Amino acid sequence: MSKKICIVSTSLRANSNSARLASAFAEGARAAGHDVQVVSLAGKNIAFCRGCLACQKIGRCVINDDANAITDALEQADVVVWATPIYYYEMSGQMKTMIDRANSLYCRPYRFGKVYLLATATEDELYVPEGAQKGVQGWVDCFEGVQFADTLFVGGVTAPGDIEDNEGLAKAYLLGQNV
Ligand SMILES: Cc1cc2nc3c(=O)[nH]c(=O)nc-3n(C[C@H](O)[C@H](O)[C@H](O)COP(=O)(O)O)c2cc1C
Repeated sequence: MSKKICIVSTSLRANSNSARLASAFAEGARAAGHDVQVVSLAGKNIAFCRGCLACQKIGRCVINDDANAITDALEQADVVVWATPIYYYEMSGQMKTMIDRANSLYCRPYRFGKVYLLATATEDELYVPEGAQKGVQGWVDCFEGVQFADTLFVGGVTAPGDIEDNEGLAKAYLLGQNV
């Protein structure tokens, strides 16, 4: 069955390694017949959550910037994929900001049942993405019926484009194909 997949790519730099993982995942998912939307946070205007919790009353964020359209896309997806560079053993700040700004999802009829994390970093050790995984798990745990399906971590990549020729791209493609 064709699924609606929303991939949020959170690196802001050109030729980003995690964005490349996101596009490989998207290619695999499209090849399997899924409907894939890749949203990049690069160039978007997304303010910090102010914690007013108005979203819990009116079902949307009162700040009118680019976060609201992305939240709508997340609401309509069957599968959500976050792609992030590891920053100080955590998800990127922009990814966390987007998660916070999507707080209205909590009281909206979201559909997603599966969440994936794609992450890249300089160090190639298993512990490097653990902070980001913990953060995503915490987010997932707030939504009933949602499962943190998998993480694909590619270490050993630092400069933009370092991920070209990395076997992680084939893994991302397969993950997308089997979503
Ligand atoms: C602010 C900042 C913090 C970083 N922190 C880490 C880190 O904790 N561990 C690590 O291995 N790499 C770290 N890196 C390196 C990036 O994770 C790495 O370059 C990654 O491939 C960038 O992905 P991107 O091209 O998608 O932006 C950091 C980079 C920046 C700019």
